[in-house]
Amino acid sequence: MIKAPPRIFLLGLRGTGKSTIAPLLAERLAWNWCDMDAELERRAGQSVREMFARLGESGFRQRESDLLREICSLEQVVVATGGGIVLKEENRRMLRQTGTCIWLRASLPVLVARLHNDPRSATLRPALTDLPLAEEMALLLTERAPLYQSCAHLVVDTDTLAPTAIADLICQRLMPTSARIS
Ligand code: S3P
Repeated sequence: MIKAPPRIFLLGLRGTGKSTIAPLLAERLAWNWCDMDAELERRAGQSVREMFARLGESGFRQRESDLLREICSLEQVVVATGGGIVLKEENRRMLRQTGTCIWLRASLPVLVARLHNDPRSATLRPALTDLPLAEEMALLLTERAPLYQSCAHLVVDTDTLAPTAIADLICQRLMPTSARIS
């Protein structure tokens, strides 16, 4: 029998619900969970936006890769990754080889609406381009969709599902009945 890796990586753009779904899924599996951006912020004592300003994007990406390497040795953990984790080839390899990767997919209008309604977005998230939000998200979706797809063991469309329903769905798809706690 093939043994499932003891960690789950939630992948996807900003606004796909990774940070909300990670604790919900972990609760259902009786696993731990980790939010990579929150952990990087805790360690640096700064928001991701401030880290981008201080270290530049490449400095932030280096810390992100270092943290991913650490997380790859943890067991029974659901990980909310940052939206740009798939940009580095080295990260994509680690993600695919050491965990079950789930791409939380959302359509452009839904992503833009969610980010418009998220007050954290403007203050804590760095702008990744000089473009207005809708155009930035369109560009990121085009550039990154093939990267998320190349890592994904499972793709979940999130447009019309509540976070709890998404966590339930992932649980059903990944775990045999006997491994679930509810
Ligand atoms: C980024 C997404 C952010 C954060 C950083 C870079 C990206 O994470 O890691 O701002 O490149 O898409 P979230 O996806 O959790 O917002």
